[in-house]
Order: sequence, then C-alpha cells, then structure tokens
Amino acid sequence: MKKRRSLKNKVIWITGASQGIGRQLALTMARQGGTVIATARSFGNLDRLQNEALDLDGIIIPLPADVTRHDEVMRAAEVITTRFGQVDIAILNAGTFIKTAGVDFRSNHMRQHFELNVMGVCHCLDALIPMMVNRQSGTLAINASLAGYRGLPAAAAYGASKAALINMAESLYTDLKPQGVDIKLINPGFVKTPLTDKNTFKMPFLMDVESAVDAIVHGLNGKRFEIRFPKVFGMIMGTLRVLPYKAYFGVTRRLQQ
Ligand SMILES: NC(=O)c1ccc[n+]([C@@H]2O[C@H](COP(=O)([O-])OP(=O)(O)OC[C@H]3O[C@@H](n4cnc5c(N)ncnc54)[C@H](OP(=O)(O)O)[C@@H]3O)[C@@H](O)[C@H]2O)c1
Repeated sequence: MKKRRSLKNKVIWITGASQGIGRQLALTMARQGGTVIATARSFGNLDRLQNEALDLDGIIIPLPADVTRHDEVMRAAEVITTRFGQVDIAILNAGTFIKTAGVDFRSNHMRQHFELNVMGVCHCLDALIPMMVNRQSGTLAINASLAGYRGLPAAAAYGASKAALINMAESLYTDLKPQGVDIKLINPGFVKTPLTDKNTFKMPFLMDVESAVDAIVHGLNGKRFEIRFPKVFGMIMGTLRVLPYKAYFGVTRRLQQ
C-alpha cells in the first residue's frame, strides 16, 4: 500500500472542483486532513461537496469563481489569503474539451479552450506566484494532458491549449525552483469523468477517477516534475512524442474516426 502523507495544516486550492477529477481530488485531500478550497462556477455542486466532506479529517470550503474572469480569481485569492494566510498547494485543474474535426475548425473553439484551459490557469498564477515567491515555498500543479504532447486528430484546439500549458510549466519550473516554488505538471490519459462521458469515440486505457486521483496525490508527494498516468499509455504517448513526422502521421492517420 502506498504511504500517505498527512495534509493536516495544509491549505490546498483546487479549481474545477465541482465534478470529475477536481471533485475527487478535493475529497481525497480532505480525507488526508487538508483544508481544501474548492473553486468552480456551480455553487450547488460545491455546497454538496462540502457536505460530503463533513465527516472527513480535513474540510472542504466552497469558493465559487469563474476562472476565465481575472477579477473573480483575484477576489477569490484575496479571500483565501485573508482567511488562511497562504496557499500551500494549488491544483489548477479547471478545463474543457470540445471535439473538433479539422473540417469543422472554428476559431471560437480555440478561443474557448484558451480562455478556460490556459488563461484560467494564468489568472490563478497571477495571484499565486507573488504569494509563493514571497514565502519562498508552495506547490503549483497544472493539469494539462497527454493530448498536449503532439497534435492528435479532432483535437486541434484542446491539444494546442494543453501544449501551451506543458510549455509554460516547463518554463516556470526552471524560473521558480530557485524561489522555493515547485511546479508540477499533471498529464493524464483518459479518465472517466462527466467530461469524457460525452465522448463517443473509443478511449484507450480509460481509467477510473479514483485511480487517477491516487496517481496525482502520489505524484504531488514525489520529486518528479511530471505526473503522468496511466503508465503504459503514458509510455506510448511519450514514444509518439519523439517519432519523426512521417512515422507519427502514419500512426495518427490510423487514429482518425
Ligand atoms: N477526464 C480526462 O480524461 C482528462 C484527461 C486529461 C486531462 N484532463 C484535464 O483534467 C481537468 C479536469 O477534467 P475533468 O475530466 O474532471 O472535467 P469535468 O468533469 O468537465 O470537470 C471540469 C471542472 O471544471 C470546472 N469549470 C469549467 N469551467 C470553469 C470556469 N470557467 N471556471 C471555474 N471552473 C470551471 C467545472 O465546474 P463548473 O462547470 O461548475 O464551473 C468542473 O468542476 C481538465 O483540465 C481536463 O482537460 C482530463
């Protein structure tokens, strides 16, 4: 059994916490004693999540905000600092996926992905980086995706937004390490959540949300920059990442549906 570190006295901010990966992360980290601040837009879901955590060692505190709104994110961060003084771990997880075949390309899909998946993270970083650099400590975990490694069929907008996060996280890791701030990059494969429940295509190596969250929490305790799972799918995607174009496109052509 994996050894669990207690999160007692740790303040954890999770965005996209009303369902899916974020919700399960909130419950798991509260079970480990953490003080979890749960952000998303739907207050009803966050309220139910708080009630579900009443018997756990830690607590879940709903803090509704739309992460695409800079003002709302800054206000939320201010509420956290006023009440708790700091954020020890932030998991910037809110995101979406809109399947778009190349022939149906819409700049609007790109905008939606970038506003939520990229700018939603950046707004939180605006609030969190100065706070953590000032304290010379803290962990910033950015939830990207294995789909950000390379361009996949019907995922131009999603993939591009996740590639942006991966590149940004790599850059920030180097810059912020000497400042005592640890950047973690989360690259999941397919996880069963309300987001992927909408997919009609076959999802290889689909995993349940509990196992995905166990992998994330385990990775947050570890020393590695990238938290990548599931293992075999991660290795396959890692190999595809370094293939020359001719071979790579030979594979992606077969993935088209
Ligand atoms: N599931 C997978 O297979 C998979 C794989 C790789 C990466 N990921 C990444 O993991 C993250 C979570 O995915 P998931 O599958 O758990 O998705 P999900 O079930 O759709 O949950 C998305 C969460 O984001 C929140 N959200 C959406 N728009 C928001 C906004 N403007 N402001 C604040 N919160 C917002 C949603 O809550 P509200 O609607 O209440 O705001 C919800 O809590 C995403 O970044 C996704 O790209 C997922």
